[in-house]
Amino acid sequence: MKYPKEYLDEIKTRLKVSAVVSRAVNLKKRGKEFVGLSPFKTEKTPSFTVNDDKEFYHCFATSEHGNIFDFVMKTQNLKFGEAVKFLANLAGMRPYTFSKQDEEREKQWKEYSSIYNQYVQFYHEEILKNEEASLAREYLKKRNLSKEEVTKFKIGYVKRQPSFYERLKNQFSEKVLTESGLFYFDEKNKFFVERFRDRIIFPINNISGQPIGIGGRTFQDKNYLAKYINSPETSFFKKGSNLYNLDLARKLSNKIDHVYLVEGYMDVIGLSKNRIENVVANLGTSLTEKQILVLNQFFEDIIICFDGDQSGYKAALRAAENSIKELKPEKKISFLLLPEKEDPDSFVNKNGKDAFTKFTKENKVPIHKFIFNHYIKQTNDDPSSMAIFEKKLRTVANTIKDNFIKKYILEYFLEQISLLTPYSNIGKKKFYHKKNKSLKTTQKYFNESKSLSQIELKEFSLLYIVLNKLSIFQEKMHLIENVKFFTNENKLVLEKVLQELKTKENLKLDDLLLDKQLIYKIFKFASIKHILNNNKNNEDKTLELLEEIKRDLKNYELEYRIEELESKFSKDLSENTFNEIRELKKLQNIN
Ligand code: UTP
Ligand code: MN
Repeated sequence: MKYPKEYLDEIKTRLKVSAVVSRAVNLKKRGKEFVGLSPFKTEKTPSFTVNDDKEFYHCFATSEHGNIFDFVMKTQNLKFGEAVKFLANLAGMRPYTFSKQDEEREKQWKEYSSIYNQYVQFYHEEILKNEEASLAREYLKKRNLSKEEVTKFKIGYVKRQPSFYERLKNQFSEKVLTESGLFYFDEKNKFFVERFRDRIIFPINNISGQPIGIGGRTFQDKNYLAKYINSPETSFFKKGSNLYNLDLARKLSNKIDHVYLVEGYMDVIGLSKNRIENVVANLGTSLTEKQILVLNQFFEDIIICFDGDQSGYKAALRAAENSIKELKPEKKISFLLLPEKEDPDSFVNKNGKDAFTKFTKENKVPIHKFIFNHYIKQTNDDPSSMAIFEKKLRTVANTIKDNFIKKYILEYFLEQISLLTPYSNIGKKKFYHKKNKSLKTTQKYFNESKSLSQIELKEFSLLYIVLNKLSIFQEKMHLIENVKFFTNENKLVLEKVLQELKTKENLKLDDLLLDKQLIYKIFKFASIKHILNNNKNNEDKTLELLEEIKRDLKNYELEYRIEELESKFSKDLSENTFNEIRELKKLQNIN
Protein backbone atom coordinates (compact mmCIF):
# COMPACT_ATOMS: atom_id res chain seq x y z
CA MET A 1 0.00 0.00 0.00
CA LYS A 2 1.22 3.48 -0.82
CA TYR A 3 1.74 6.34 1.58
CA PRO A 4 -0.13 9.44 0.45
CA LYS A 5 2.15 11.99 -1.16
CA GLU A 6 0.76 14.69 1.13
CA TYR A 7 2.02 12.77 4.17
CA LEU A 8 5.49 12.07 2.79
CA ASP A 9 5.84 15.66 1.60
CA GLU A 10 4.99 16.92 5.02
CA ILE A 11 7.72 14.80 6.58
CA LYS A 12 10.18 16.09 4.02
CA THR A 13 9.26 19.70 4.54
CA ARG A 14 9.46 19.41 8.30
CA LEU A 15 12.87 17.75 8.38
CA LYS A 16 15.91 19.26 6.82
CA VAL A 17 18.25 16.70 5.27
CA SER A 18 21.10 18.13 7.34
CA ALA A 19 19.10 17.60 10.54
CA VAL A 20 18.49 13.95 9.74
CA VAL A 21 22.01 13.25 8.49
CA SER A 22 23.74 15.02 11.37
CA ARG A 23 22.32 12.44 13.74
CA ALA A 24 24.77 10.02 12.15
CA VAL A 25 27.45 12.14 10.53
CA ASN A 26 29.34 15.16 11.82
CA LEU A 27 28.56 17.87 9.30
CA LYS A 28 30.33 21.12 8.71
CA LYS A 29 28.82 23.99 6.81
CA ARG A 30 30.56 24.84 3.57
CA GLY A 31 28.81 27.51 1.54
CA LYS A 32 25.30 26.40 0.76
CA GLU A 33 26.07 22.79 1.57
CA PHE A 34 27.24 20.67 4.45
CA VAL A 35 30.14 18.24 4.23
CA GLY A 36 31.24 15.33 6.34
CA LEU A 37 32.90 11.94 6.29
CA SER A 38 30.95 9.43 4.27
CA PRO A 39 28.89 7.02 6.37
CA PHE A 40 29.15 4.50 3.54
CA LYS A 41 32.92 4.16 3.52
CA THR A 42 35.86 4.82 5.81
CA GLU A 43 37.67 7.89 4.63
CA LYS A 44 39.90 10.64 5.93
CA THR A 45 38.86 13.53 3.73
CA PRO A 46 35.16 14.34 3.60
CA SER A 47 33.42 13.51 0.35
CA PHE A 48 29.88 13.40 1.62
CA THR A 49 27.69 16.43 0.95
CA VAL A 50 24.22 17.51 1.99
CA ASN A 51 22.11 20.14 0.29
CA ASP A 52 19.04 21.29 2.20
CA ASP A 53 17.63 23.41 -0.62
CA LYS A 54 17.70 20.52 -3.04
CA GLU A 55 16.61 18.10 -0.33
CA PHE A 56 19.24 15.46 -1.00
CA TYR A 57 22.64 14.09 0.02
CA HIS A 58 25.40 12.94 -2.29
CA CYS A 59 28.48 10.89 -1.56
CA PHE A 60 31.28 11.47 -4.04
CA ALA A 61 33.23 8.47 -2.78
CA THR A 62 30.50 5.91 -3.39
CA SER A 63 28.07 7.81 -5.64
CA GLU A 64 25.31 7.16 -3.11
CA HIS A 65 22.59 9.72 -3.54
CA GLY A 66 19.12 10.29 -2.15
CA ASN A 67 16.63 11.97 0.15
CA ILE A 68 16.01 11.55 3.88
CA PHE A 69 14.10 8.31 3.39
CA ASP A 70 16.96 6.77 1.40
CA PHE A 71 19.46 7.93 3.99
CA VAL A 72 17.64 6.35 6.90
CA MET A 73 16.97 3.15 4.96
CA LYS A 74 20.63 2.78 4.04
CA THR A 75 22.30 3.81 7.26
CA GLN A 76 19.88 2.08 9.61
CA ASN A 77 19.12 -0.81 7.35
CA LEU A 78 15.38 -0.17 7.40
CA LYS A 79 12.58 -0.93 4.96
CA PHE A 80 10.81 2.04 3.42
CA GLY A 81 7.81 1.76 5.74
CA GLU A 82 10.04 1.62 8.81
CA ALA A 83 11.98 4.66 7.63
CA VAL A 84 8.73 6.57 7.19
CA LYS A 85 7.65 5.68 10.72
CA PHE A 86 11.00 6.66 12.17
CA LEU A 87 11.10 10.01 10.38
CA ALA A 88 7.45 10.84 11.03
CA ASN A 89 8.16 10.41 14.71
CA LEU A 90 11.22 12.63 14.43
CA ALA A 91 9.09 15.26 12.71
CA GLY A 92 6.54 15.16 15.51
CA MET A 93 3.85 13.63 13.30
CA ARG A 94 1.45 10.81 14.01
CA PRO A 95 2.34 7.45 12.48
CA TYR A 96 0.36 6.73 9.37
CA THR A 97 -2.06 3.86 9.68
CA PHE A 98 -3.58 2.32 6.64
CA SER A 99 -7.23 1.69 6.95
CA LYS A 100 -10.43 2.09 5.00
CA GLN A 101 -10.81 5.56 6.51
CA ASP A 102 -7.37 6.59 5.32
CA GLU A 103 -8.16 5.58 1.80
CA GLU A 104 -11.33 7.57 2.07
CA ARG A 105 -9.43 10.57 3.42
CA GLU A 106 -6.87 10.37 0.66
CA LYS A 107 -9.70 10.50 -1.85
CA GLN A 108 -11.28 13.45 -0.05
CA TRP A 109 -7.96 15.29 -0.01
CA LYS A 110 -7.56 14.90 -3.75
CA GLU A 111 -10.97 16.46 -4.31
CA TYR A 112 -10.47 19.14 -1.69
CA SER A 113 -7.12 20.30 -3.05
CA SER A 114 -8.40 20.18 -6.59
CA ILE A 115 -11.31 22.48 -5.64
CA TYR A 116 -8.99 24.89 -3.84
CA ASN A 117 -6.42 24.93 -6.61
CA GLN A 118 -9.00 25.69 -9.25
CA TYR A 119 -10.70 28.30 -7.09
CA VAL A 120 -7.48 30.14 -6.21
CA GLN A 121 -6.18 30.03 -9.77
CA PHE A 122 -9.44 31.21 -11.27
CA TYR A 123 -9.90 34.24 -9.01
CA HIS A 124 -6.24 35.12 -9.19
CA GLU A 125 -6.51 35.38 -12.94
CA GLU A 126 -9.66 37.42 -12.52
CA ILE A 127 -7.94 40.05 -10.41
CA LEU A 128 -5.17 40.33 -12.95
CA LYS A 129 -7.36 40.90 -15.94
CA ASN A 130 -11.10 41.06 -15.42
CA GLU A 131 -12.68 44.47 -15.88
CA GLU A 132 -15.00 43.81 -12.95
CA ALA A 133 -11.98 43.59 -10.68
CA SER A 134 -10.79 47.12 -11.37
CA LEU A 135 -11.98 48.47 -8.02
CA ALA A 136 -10.11 45.69 -6.24
CA ARG A 137 -6.99 46.46 -8.26
CA GLU A 138 -7.27 50.14 -7.38
CA TYR A 139 -7.60 49.28 -3.73
CA LEU A 140 -4.45 47.17 -3.81
CA LYS A 141 -2.62 49.93 -5.60
CA LYS A 142 -3.72 52.36 -2.93
CA ARG A 143 -2.16 50.02 -0.42
CA ASN A 144 1.08 49.95 -2.37
CA LEU A 145 0.82 46.41 -3.62
CA SER A 146 2.18 45.73 -7.06
CA LYS A 147 1.66 42.85 -9.41
CA GLU A 148 4.68 41.20 -7.90
CA GLU A 149 3.04 40.75 -4.49
CA VAL A 150 -0.31 39.84 -6.04
CA THR A 151 1.40 37.05 -7.95
CA LYS A 152 3.64 35.92 -5.12
CA PHE A 153 0.72 35.52 -2.73
CA LYS A 154 -1.75 34.51 -5.42
CA ILE A 155 -4.13 37.19 -4.25
CA GLY A 156 -7.52 37.09 -5.97
CA TYR A 157 -10.82 38.86 -6.24
CA VAL A 158 -14.20 37.16 -6.10
CA LYS A 159 -16.69 39.26 -7.98
CA ARG A 160 -20.04 40.44 -6.71
CA GLN A 161 -22.10 37.81 -8.44
CA PRO A 162 -19.74 34.95 -8.97
CA SER A 163 -20.66 31.75 -10.69
CA PHE A 164 -17.75 29.50 -9.96
CA TYR A 165 -19.98 27.12 -8.07
CA GLU A 166 -21.80 26.34 -11.31
CA ARG A 167 -18.51 25.40 -12.93
CA LEU A 168 -17.45 23.07 -10.18
CA LYS A 169 -20.88 21.48 -9.86
CA ASN A 170 -20.19 19.16 -12.77
CA GLN A 171 -16.97 17.82 -11.30
CA PHE A 172 -17.82 17.47 -7.59
CA SER A 173 -20.79 16.50 -5.46
CA GLU A 174 -22.82 19.08 -3.57
CA LYS A 175 -21.63 17.60 -0.32
CA VAL A 176 -17.95 17.90 -1.21
CA LEU A 177 -18.41 21.46 -2.42
CA THR A 178 -20.13 22.61 0.77
CA GLU A 179 -17.58 20.81 2.91
CA SER A 180 -14.83 22.86 1.27
CA GLY A 181 -16.16 25.89 3.17
CA LEU A 182 -16.07 28.04 0.04
CA PHE A 183 -19.84 27.91 -0.48
CA TYR A 184 -22.89 27.67 1.70
CA PHE A 185 -26.54 27.01 1.03
CA ASP A 186 -28.97 29.89 1.34
CA GLU A 187 -32.09 28.22 2.75
CA LYS A 188 -34.38 31.08 1.94
CA ASN A 189 -33.47 31.58 -1.66
CA LYS A 190 -32.51 27.98 -2.25
CA PHE A 191 -29.17 28.45 -3.87
CA PHE A 192 -25.45 28.13 -3.14
CA VAL A 193 -23.73 31.31 -2.12
CA GLU A 194 -20.06 32.07 -2.47
CA ARG A 195 -18.72 32.98 0.94
CA PHE A 196 -16.09 35.39 -0.34
CA ARG A 197 -18.12 37.30 -2.90
CA ASP A 198 -16.96 40.85 -3.42
CA ARG A 199 -13.81 40.32 -1.38
CA ILE A 200 -10.11 40.32 -2.06
CA ILE A 201 -8.93 36.85 -1.16
CA PHE A 202 -5.67 35.60 0.35
CA PRO A 203 -5.09 31.87 -0.09
CA ILE A 204 -3.76 30.11 3.00
CA ASN A 205 -1.42 27.25 2.13
CA ASN A 206 -0.37 24.19 4.04
CA ILE A 207 3.31 23.63 4.79
CA SER A 208 3.95 22.15 1.36
CA GLY A 209 2.35 25.06 -0.47
CA GLN A 210 -1.10 23.62 -1.27
CA PRO A 211 -4.01 26.04 -0.68
CA ILE A 212 -6.32 24.78 2.07
CA GLY A 213 -8.13 27.87 3.31
CA ILE A 214 -8.96 31.45 2.40
CA GLY A 215 -8.97 34.84 4.11
CA GLY A 216 -11.12 37.48 2.45
CA ARG A 217 -11.07 41.25 2.97
CA THR A 218 -13.80 43.65 2.07
CA PHE A 219 -12.42 46.89 0.69
CA GLN A 220 -15.47 49.05 0.71
CA ASP A 221 -16.77 51.06 3.58
CA LYS A 222 -19.55 48.82 4.63
CA ASN A 223 -19.62 48.84 8.37
CA TYR A 224 -22.05 46.00 8.62
CA LEU A 225 -19.54 43.63 7.03
CA ALA A 226 -16.67 42.10 8.94
CA LYS A 227 -13.39 43.45 7.58
CA TYR A 228 -11.99 39.97 7.21
CA ILE A 229 -13.67 36.63 7.05
CA ASN A 230 -11.81 33.33 6.96
CA SER A 231 -12.93 29.99 5.65
CA PRO A 232 -14.32 27.75 8.37
CA GLU A 233 -12.30 24.87 9.77
CA THR A 234 -12.53 21.81 7.57
CA SER A 235 -10.98 18.42 7.94
CA PHE A 236 -7.91 19.73 6.07
CA PHE A 237 -7.77 23.26 7.44
CA LYS A 238 -7.14 23.63 11.16
CA LYS A 239 -6.49 27.21 12.19
CA GLY A 240 -4.50 26.29 15.29
CA SER A 241 -1.93 24.28 13.40
CA ASN A 242 -1.49 26.35 10.25
CA LEU A 243 0.26 29.64 9.75
CA TYR A 244 -0.10 32.03 6.85
CA ASN A 245 3.03 32.06 4.64
CA LEU A 246 4.80 29.23 6.49
CA ASP A 247 5.28 27.44 3.16
CA LEU A 248 7.42 30.29 1.80
CA ALA A 249 9.04 31.46 5.03
CA ARG A 250 10.34 28.03 6.01
CA LYS A 251 12.43 27.88 2.83
CA LEU A 252 14.55 30.71 4.20
CA SER A 253 15.45 28.84 7.36
CA ASN A 254 18.73 27.63 5.85
CA LYS A 255 19.93 31.19 5.75
CA ILE A 256 18.04 33.00 8.50
CA ASP A 257 17.66 31.80 12.07
CA HIS A 258 14.70 33.95 13.12
CA VAL A 259 11.12 34.40 12.03
CA TYR A 260 8.61 37.18 12.66
CA LEU A 261 5.18 36.17 13.80
CA VAL A 262 2.60 38.87 13.02
CA GLU A 263 -1.18 39.21 13.26
CA GLY A 264 -2.36 39.93 9.76
CA TYR A 265 -2.19 38.88 6.15
CA MET A 266 -1.30 42.43 5.20
CA ASP A 267 1.57 42.48 7.68
CA VAL A 268 3.12 39.45 6.01
CA ILE A 269 2.68 40.97 2.58
CA GLY A 270 3.86 44.45 3.60
CA LEU A 271 7.04 43.10 5.19
CA SER A 272 7.67 40.79 2.27
CA LYS A 273 7.37 43.70 -0.12
CA ASN A 274 10.07 45.42 1.92
CA ARG A 275 12.31 42.35 1.56
CA ILE A 276 11.62 40.88 4.98
CA GLU A 277 10.28 37.51 3.97
CA ASN A 278 10.83 35.41 7.07
CA VAL A 279 7.35 36.23 8.33
CA VAL A 280 4.25 34.22 9.18
CA ALA A 281 0.86 35.20 10.58
CA ASN A 282 -1.53 33.32 12.77
CA LEU A 283 -5.01 33.29 11.46
CA GLY A 284 -7.17 35.58 13.54
CA THR A 285 -7.09 33.12 16.45
CA SER A 286 -4.78 33.07 19.44
CA LEU A 287 -1.37 31.51 19.07
CA THR A 288 -1.20 27.82 19.90
CA GLU A 289 1.61 25.69 21.30
CA LYS A 290 1.47 23.64 18.15
CA GLN A 291 2.28 26.65 16.02
CA ILE A 292 5.30 27.39 18.21
CA LEU A 293 6.53 23.83 17.83
CA VAL A 294 6.21 23.97 14.06
CA LEU A 295 8.08 27.28 13.89
CA ASN A 296 10.82 25.92 16.13
CA GLN A 297 11.38 23.06 13.76
CA PHE A 298 12.68 25.61 11.29
CA PHE A 299 13.78 28.67 13.25
CA GLU A 300 15.76 29.24 16.43
CA ASP A 301 14.25 32.57 17.31
CA ILE A 302 10.58 33.51 17.07
CA ILE A 303 9.93 37.24 17.26
CA ILE A 304 6.31 37.95 18.03
CA CYS A 305 5.35 41.35 16.67
CA PHE A 306 1.72 42.26 17.07
CA ASP A 307 -0.08 45.54 16.45
CA GLY A 308 0.76 48.53 18.63
CA ASP A 309 -2.69 48.77 20.16
CA GLN A 310 -4.51 47.40 23.16
CA SER A 311 -5.76 44.29 21.40
CA GLY A 312 -2.32 43.60 19.92
CA TYR A 313 -0.82 43.82 23.39
CA LYS A 314 -3.43 41.52 24.87
CA ALA A 315 -2.90 39.02 22.08
CA ALA A 316 0.85 39.19 22.66
CA LEU A 317 0.41 38.50 26.35
CA ARG A 318 -1.81 35.52 25.66
CA ALA A 319 0.74 34.32 23.11
CA ALA A 320 3.50 34.67 25.70
CA GLU A 321 1.69 32.59 28.28
CA ASN A 322 0.85 29.92 25.75
CA SER A 323 4.23 29.70 24.12
CA ILE A 324 6.47 29.85 27.18
CA LYS A 325 5.36 26.26 27.89
CA GLU A 326 7.20 25.10 24.79
CA LEU A 327 10.39 27.10 25.35
CA LYS A 328 13.46 24.93 24.74
CA PRO A 329 17.15 25.42 25.43
CA GLU A 330 18.78 26.93 22.38
CA LYS A 331 15.45 28.26 21.12
CA LYS A 332 14.24 31.76 21.77
CA ILE A 333 10.94 33.57 21.78
CA SER A 334 10.92 37.35 21.97
CA PHE A 335 8.40 40.14 21.79
CA LEU A 336 8.50 43.32 19.83
CA LEU A 337 6.07 46.06 20.79
CA LEU A 338 5.42 48.57 18.04
CA PRO A 339 4.70 52.26 18.61
CA GLU A 340 1.04 53.20 19.25
CA LYS A 341 -1.27 52.75 16.31
CA GLU A 342 1.30 51.05 14.10
CA ASP A 343 1.20 47.54 12.79
CA PRO A 344 4.18 45.81 11.13
CA ASP A 345 2.77 46.66 7.71
CA SER A 346 2.35 50.37 8.38
CA PHE A 347 5.67 50.60 10.22
CA VAL A 348 7.76 49.01 7.52
CA ASN A 349 6.03 50.90 4.73
CA LYS A 350 6.69 54.18 6.49
CA ASN A 351 10.24 53.52 7.63
CA GLY A 352 11.68 50.78 5.41
CA LYS A 353 13.53 47.55 6.00
CA ASP A 354 16.62 48.86 7.76
CA ALA A 355 14.61 50.87 10.26
CA PHE A 356 12.43 47.86 10.97
CA THR A 357 15.44 45.62 11.56
CA LYS A 358 17.10 48.24 13.72
CA PHE A 359 13.92 48.76 15.70
CA THR A 360 13.75 45.00 16.24
CA LYS A 361 17.32 44.78 17.48
CA GLU A 362 16.86 47.60 19.93
CA ASN A 363 13.43 46.78 21.24
CA LYS A 364 12.80 43.08 21.30
CA VAL A 365 12.37 41.64 24.77
CA PRO A 366 12.85 37.98 25.68
CA ILE A 367 9.68 36.21 26.69
CA HIS A 368 10.44 35.93 30.41
CA LYS A 369 11.14 39.64 30.70
CA PHE A 370 8.02 40.46 28.75
CA ILE A 371 5.92 38.43 31.15
CA PHE A 372 7.68 39.84 34.19
CA ASN A 373 7.29 43.42 32.97
CA HIS A 374 3.62 42.88 32.39
CA TYR A 375 2.81 41.53 35.84
CA ILE A 376 4.99 43.98 37.70
CA LYS A 377 2.89 46.76 36.17
CA GLN A 378 -0.21 45.21 37.71
CA THR A 379 1.37 45.07 41.13
CA ASN A 380 1.63 47.63 43.88
CA ASP A 381 3.55 47.74 47.05
CA ASP A 382 1.22 45.95 49.45
CA PRO A 383 1.77 42.40 50.66
CA SER A 384 -1.30 40.87 49.14
CA SER A 385 -0.59 42.32 45.72
CA MET A 386 3.02 41.14 45.94
CA ALA A 387 1.89 37.68 46.97
CA ILE A 388 -0.43 37.41 44.00
CA PHE A 389 2.39 38.62 41.79
CA GLU A 390 4.87 36.02 43.01
CA LYS A 391 2.27 33.29 42.81
CA LYS A 392 1.39 34.21 39.26
CA LEU A 393 5.02 34.16 38.13
CA ARG A 394 5.63 30.83 39.81
CA THR A 395 2.57 29.40 38.10
CA VAL A 396 3.76 30.64 34.71
CA ALA A 397 7.24 29.18 35.26
CA ASN A 398 5.70 25.90 36.30
CA THR A 399 3.93 25.46 32.98
CA ILE A 400 7.29 25.24 31.19
CA LYS A 401 7.86 21.71 30.02
CA ASP A 402 11.64 21.75 29.71
CA ASN A 403 13.17 21.40 33.16
CA PHE A 404 16.32 23.40 32.50
CA ILE A 405 14.46 26.36 31.11
CA LYS A 406 11.95 26.11 33.92
CA LYS A 407 14.70 26.29 36.49
CA TYR A 408 16.42 29.30 34.99
CA ILE A 409 13.27 31.26 34.37
CA LEU A 410 12.04 30.60 37.87
CA GLU A 411 15.40 31.77 39.18
CA TYR A 412 15.14 34.91 37.11
CA PHE A 413 11.68 35.64 38.47
CA LEU A 414 12.69 34.97 42.05
CA GLU A 415 15.80 37.05 41.81
CA GLN A 416 13.84 39.97 40.42
CA ILE A 417 11.33 39.59 43.22
CA SER A 418 14.07 39.46 45.83
CA LEU A 419 15.38 42.76 44.53
CA LEU A 420 11.95 44.21 45.22
CA THR A 421 11.88 42.82 48.74
CA PRO A 422 15.35 43.55 50.11
CA TYR A 423 14.37 43.30 53.79
CA SER A 424 13.19 39.76 53.73
CA ASN A 425 16.48 38.74 52.21
CA ILE A 426 18.84 40.16 54.77
CA GLY A 427 20.93 37.46 56.32
CA LYS A 428 19.72 34.83 53.89
CA LYS A 429 22.09 33.17 51.54
CA LYS A 430 20.84 33.65 48.05
CA PHE A 431 20.90 30.32 46.36
CA TYR A 432 21.61 31.71 42.96
CA HIS A 433 24.76 33.48 44.05
CA LYS A 434 26.60 30.35 44.84
CA LYS A 435 26.13 28.89 41.42
CA ASN A 436 28.20 31.43 39.60
CA LYS A 437 31.49 29.71 40.09
CA SER A 438 34.62 31.30 38.80
CA LEU A 439 37.00 29.31 36.70
CA LYS A 440 39.15 28.74 39.78
CA THR A 441 36.43 27.29 41.94
CA THR A 442 35.17 25.13 39.14
CA GLN A 443 38.67 23.89 38.65
CA LYS A 444 38.91 23.10 42.31
CA TYR A 445 35.72 21.20 42.06
CA PHE A 446 37.15 19.24 39.19
CA ASN A 447 40.26 18.48 41.13
CA GLU A 448 38.35 17.17 44.06
CA SER A 449 35.64 15.28 42.30
CA LYS A 450 36.06 11.88 40.90
CA SER A 451 35.72 13.13 37.35
CA LEU A 452 39.32 14.11 37.93
CA SER A 453 40.47 10.63 37.23
CA GLN A 454 38.92 10.58 33.77
CA ILE A 455 40.50 13.81 32.71
CA GLU A 456 43.74 13.11 34.44
CA LEU A 457 44.01 9.77 32.70
CA LYS A 458 43.56 11.48 29.36
CA GLU A 459 46.27 13.92 30.28
CA PHE A 460 48.50 11.06 31.35
CA SER A 461 47.97 9.40 28.00
CA LEU A 462 48.95 12.53 26.17
CA LEU A 463 52.03 12.98 28.31
CA TYR A 464 52.90 9.34 27.85
CA ILE A 465 52.96 9.78 24.09
CA VAL A 466 55.02 12.94 24.32
CA LEU A 467 57.53 11.56 26.80
CA ASN A 468 58.04 8.39 24.78
CA LYS A 469 58.29 10.11 21.44
CA LEU A 470 60.24 13.22 22.25
CA SER A 471 62.05 13.00 18.92
CA ILE A 472 58.80 13.37 16.99
CA PHE A 473 57.82 16.48 18.89
CA GLN A 474 61.20 18.04 18.50
CA GLU A 475 60.03 18.90 14.99
CA LYS A 476 56.31 19.02 15.58
CA MET A 477 56.08 21.11 18.68
CA HIS A 478 53.06 22.96 17.38
CA LEU A 479 51.01 19.81 17.85
CA ILE A 480 51.21 20.07 21.60
CA GLU A 481 51.69 23.77 22.10
CA ASN A 482 48.05 24.72 22.44
CA VAL A 483 46.86 21.79 24.45
CA LYS A 484 44.97 22.79 27.57
CA PHE A 485 45.31 20.70 30.70
CA PHE A 486 43.11 20.85 33.75
CA THR A 487 45.36 19.47 36.45
CA ASN A 488 48.19 21.67 37.60
CA GLU A 489 50.77 18.97 38.03
CA ASN A 490 50.34 17.78 34.45
CA LYS A 491 50.25 21.28 33.15
CA LEU A 492 53.66 21.93 34.70
CA VAL A 493 55.10 18.81 33.09
CA LEU A 494 53.89 19.81 29.67
CA GLU A 495 55.24 23.32 30.07
CA LYS A 496 58.59 21.97 31.11
CA VAL A 497 58.72 19.63 28.11
CA LEU A 498 57.90 22.43 25.71
CA GLN A 499 60.49 24.70 27.21
CA GLU A 500 63.20 22.07 26.97
CA LEU A 501 62.21 21.09 23.45
CA LYS A 502 62.73 24.68 22.43
CA THR A 503 66.17 25.00 23.91
CA LYS A 504 67.74 21.56 23.61
CA GLU A 505 68.36 19.35 20.67
CA ASN A 506 67.98 15.61 20.88
CA LEU A 507 66.15 15.80 24.13
CA LYS A 508 65.97 12.65 26.24
CA LEU A 509 63.52 11.81 28.97
CA ASP A 510 66.19 11.91 31.64
CA ASP A 511 67.26 15.42 30.63
CA LEU A 512 63.91 16.66 31.79
CA LEU A 513 64.60 15.98 35.43
CA LEU A 514 60.95 15.38 36.17
CA ASP A 515 59.58 14.25 39.46
CA LYS A 516 60.14 10.48 39.61
CA GLN A 517 56.91 9.86 41.42
CA LEU A 518 54.92 11.60 38.77
CA ILE A 519 56.66 9.85 35.90
CA TYR A 520 55.90 6.60 37.60
CA LYS A 521 52.25 7.51 37.84
CA ILE A 522 52.05 8.57 34.21
CA PHE A 523 53.73 5.41 32.98
CA LYS A 524 51.58 3.26 35.16
CA PHE A 525 48.17 4.75 34.46
CA ALA A 526 48.32 6.05 30.90
CA SER A 527 45.65 3.91 29.29
CA ILE A 528 47.16 4.49 25.88
CA LYS A 529 50.36 2.62 26.63
CA HIS A 530 49.37 -0.78 25.22
CA ILE A 531 48.06 0.59 21.98
CA LEU A 532 51.09 2.77 21.56
CA ASN A 533 53.49 -0.06 22.30
CA ASN A 534 51.78 -2.20 19.70
CA ASN A 535 52.43 0.46 17.11
CA LYS A 536 55.92 1.25 18.25
CA ASN A 537 57.42 2.66 15.11
CA ASN A 538 54.31 3.86 13.41
CA GLU A 539 54.47 7.63 13.53
CA ASP A 540 51.14 8.14 11.74
CA LYS A 541 49.34 6.00 14.24
CA THR A 542 50.99 7.81 17.11
CA LEU A 543 49.87 11.16 15.81
CA GLU A 544 46.40 9.85 15.18
CA LEU A 545 46.18 8.73 18.80
CA LEU A 546 47.43 12.09 19.91
CA GLU A 547 44.74 13.89 17.91
CA GLU A 548 42.09 11.70 19.43
CA ILE A 549 43.18 12.56 22.94
CA LYS A 550 43.38 16.23 22.08
CA ARG A 551 39.83 16.09 20.78
CA ASP A 552 38.62 14.49 23.99
CA LEU A 553 40.37 17.10 26.08
CA LYS A 554 38.91 19.84 23.94
CA ASN A 555 35.49 18.40 24.59
CA TYR A 556 36.06 18.40 28.33
CA GLU A 557 37.05 21.99 28.07
CA LEU A 558 33.94 22.88 26.09
CA GLU A 559 31.71 20.99 28.47
CA TYR A 560 33.30 22.81 31.28
CA ARG A 561 32.93 26.25 29.81
CA ILE A 562 29.32 25.50 28.91
CA GLU A 563 28.68 24.53 32.50
CA GLU A 564 30.18 27.76 33.71
CA LEU A 565 28.24 29.84 31.24
CA GLU A 566 25.05 28.06 32.11
CA SER A 567 25.43 29.04 35.71
CA LYS A 568 26.26 32.56 34.59
CA PHE A 569 23.15 32.52 32.42
CA SER A 570 21.08 31.46 35.38
CA LYS A 571 22.01 34.78 36.89
CA ASP A 572 22.09 37.28 34.10
CA LEU A 573 19.83 35.60 31.51
CA SER A 574 21.69 37.73 29.07
CA GLU A 575 21.41 37.26 25.39
CA ASN A 576 25.19 37.31 24.95
CA THR A 577 25.70 34.49 27.40
CA PHE A 578 22.97 32.53 25.72
CA ASN A 579 24.53 33.00 22.31
CA GLU A 580 27.92 32.06 23.64
CA ILE A 581 26.48 28.83 25.03
CA ARG A 582 24.87 28.11 21.71
CA GLU A 583 28.12 28.66 19.83
CA LEU A 584 29.99 26.37 22.21
CA LYS A 585 27.37 23.69 21.82
CA LYS A 586 27.74 23.92 18.08
CA LEU A 587 31.50 23.51 18.44
CA GLN A 588 30.88 20.53 20.67
CA ASN A 589 28.83 18.93 17.92
CA ILE A 590 31.48 19.53 15.31
CA ASN A 591 34.34 18.32 17.47
P1 UTP B 1 -6.11 43.67 11.39
O1 UTP B 1 -7.38 44.40 11.54
O2 UTP B 1 -4.91 44.20 12.08
O3 UTP B 1 -5.86 43.50 9.85
O4 UTP B 1 -6.37 42.18 11.84
P2 UTP B 1 -4.58 43.76 8.92
O5 UTP B 1 -4.00 42.46 8.50
O6 UTP B 1 -3.68 44.75 9.54
O7 UTP B 1 -5.22 44.29 7.63
P3 UTP B 1 -5.46 45.73 7.09
O8 UTP B 1 -4.13 46.38 7.09
O9 UTP B 1 -6.46 46.40 7.98
O10 UTP B 1 -5.99 45.43 5.74
C1 UTP B 1 -5.33 41.23 11.92
C2 UTP B 1 -5.82 39.88 11.50
O11 UTP B 1 -6.93 39.47 12.30
C3 UTP B 1 -7.87 38.75 11.54
C4 UTP B 1 -7.26 38.63 10.16
O12 UTP B 1 -6.53 37.41 10.07
C5 UTP B 1 -6.35 39.84 10.08
O13 UTP B 1 -5.32 39.70 9.13
N1 UTP B 1 -9.18 39.44 11.47
C6 UTP B 1 -9.27 40.78 11.57
C7 UTP B 1 -10.32 38.70 11.26
O14 UTP B 1 -10.24 37.46 11.15
N2 UTP B 1 -11.53 39.32 11.15
C8 UTP B 1 -11.66 40.68 11.22
O15 UTP B 1 -12.77 41.21 11.10
C9 UTP B 1 -10.49 41.42 11.46
MN1 MN C 1 -3.14 45.16 11.55
